Amino acid sequence: MNLDNEKRLAAIEAVKYVKSGMTVGLGTGSTAAHMVKELGRLVKNGLEIVGVPSSENTKKLAMELGIPLTTLEKTSAIDLYIDGADEFDPYMQLIKGGGGALLREKILTYNSDLVIIIADSQKEVKRLGDFKLPVETIPFATKKIEQSLQKMGLQPKLRVKDSENFVTDEGNFILDLNIEHISNIQLLETKLKQIPGVVETGLFLDMADIIIIGQGETTITLKK
Ligand code: A5P
Repeated sequence: MNLDNEKRLAAIEAVKYVKSGMTVGLGTGSTAAHMVKELGRLVKNGLEIVGVPSSENTKKLAMELGIPLTTLEKTSAIDLYIDGADEFDPYMQLIKGGGGALLREKILTYNSDLVIIIADSQKEVKRLGDFKLPVETIPFATKKIEQSLQKMGLQPKLRVKDSENFVTDEGNFILDLNIEHISNIQLLETKLKQIPGVVETGLFLDMADIIIIGQGETTITLKK
């Protein structure tokens, strides 16, 4: 199974929803990068779009490919947002944030008319939670949040990169949580958001309109 090819096929299928004149939210990660590359190719061939990147990494890639960009505050509406996911379940609920861009991703998702998730076949799970749930936290509060989450049985682990704390594009930290044993993810989302200093979680609940999955040499599309 060639997972990278599945990501690419899903990305190409999603880009078929993009039409000239659209403002397109650009996700982050290896699957989203295929989508940005495909958009770059189409822009070179005359497609007229404006992109809103969800991270500094995606912004850099889109600029290299010549995709015109704008920012969220300058745009009146985002027609379409395309991004990857770390996991999705049969109810189209997602875990995102493996790449650490969950905050801007969730803001763009919330503010887009249509949300398309693209994924390889390994991202599909019966129940969310094999993947550790990323939670973005204010550095000032992170130690205390870690203690609270520990008491809740969520085994928080501060994300580290190159022996330093991982810092998000918004200057925050990430705690990765074990939610394997959690059955009510809606309640978990509410509880996490109630902790002062928690900025956002990687649970994207009821936010995806379409999921396109690369499966071998083809794709499968799930719709809400
Ligand atoms: C980035 O912060 C994430 O939300 C990504 O969308 C997610 O981690 C999927 O990444 P890959 O496409 O690299 O698997």
